[in-house]
Amino acid sequence: MITKNEFISILEENKNQISPLLMEKADVIRRENYGESVYLRGLIEFTNYCKNNCYYCGIRAGNKKAKRYRLTREEILSCCAAGNALGFQTFVLQGGEDPWFSDREICEIVWTIKSRYPTSAVTLSIGEKSRESYQAYHNAGADRYLLRHETATEDHYKKLHPENMLLQNRKKCLYTLKEIGFQVGAGCMVGSPGQTLAHLAEDLCFLQELQPQMVGIGPFLPHIDTPFGKEKAGSLSLTLTMVALTRILLPKVLLPSTTALGTLTPEGRKLGLKCGANVVMPNLSPPEHRKDYTLYNNKLCTGNEAAEAVQSLCEEIKMTGYLPDFSRGDSKMEKFI
Ligand code: 5AD
Repeated sequence: MITKNEFISILEENKNQISPLLMEKADVIRRENYGESVYLRGLIEFTNYCKNNCYYCGIRAGNKKAKRYRLTREEILSCCAAGNALGFQTFVLQGGEDPWFSDREICEIVWTIKSRYPTSAVTLSIGEKSRESYQAYHNAGADRYLLRHETATEDHYKKLHPENMLLQNRKKCLYTLKEIGFQVGAGCMVGSPGQTLAHLAEDLCFLQELQPQMVGIGPFLPHIDTPFGKEKAGSLSLTLTMVALTRILLPKVLLPSTTALGTLTPEGRKLGLKCGANVVMPNLSPPEHRKDYTLYNNKLCTGNEAAEAVQSLCEEIKMTGYLPDFSRGDSKMEKFI
């Protein structure tokens, strides 16, 4: 058990430059638990409509400039077919909170994917729902659920979200998802406006308590058409420190080297892998829509971020000292092996 004050001092020591020792420690723990494997997931961003109005996010309801799209069921299934042909065994369906997709629609999509590709895993990332909805998705065959907590401190959560969004509800959703039996992913942005090292330490304490199977951590990046358009981006060293600490804290966690990290700096994705990350999620969405899923400006969706370039991404992974792994890559936490 690491205390909040201990986290604060480690963050303080590494905030300008992550120490090679911390990187090394995270890498050793990652190798002990997952070997050299880097798991590949096909990400399908199937709707950028969102009823929420998070101040940081480019697809917030209030952004009238966003060009909205929604994939049809057939389009989603063609993305999966393309992903399956490329060798992916996990499909991540991510979207804004878009009421157009009823529970029934989501369940039918999940069920169809699972029946066509029975050895594949389906991950949902579609926000806060009721227990009944989560249970229905799980019954339909969904294996995993990503729902970042964004920040684990009440007052900071309020700075990032409008009044109708509650940290308490977000946390409750995460616990409910765990109870239902999903492999659950939480996570936070690093360097979001108003964030202090104490907030980040609180995020780590929350992860320690929740014990999620997956954690997504990326730097905050501004989007010009949001209230935070003029804020500065999160720092590379702090993001890497948070990734490394998460690996140390949760040795068996599945930890992506995120698109936001790759967007922050060209070497970002490689550095994430060296700090304990063991997952990459290239984009399988139809190319014509990728540029419209802009959570933040300059979001990468080409080059090694694109699923079609998976060969080149695999080369990058090998060059970094790891092995691309196309298996389902389930959590190695006891319950899931
Ligand atoms: N910068 C970085 N990450 C962002 N996200 C949303 N907007 C931004 C931004 N401006 C992240 C959130 C969300 C995930 C899908 O993308 O953490 O959970």
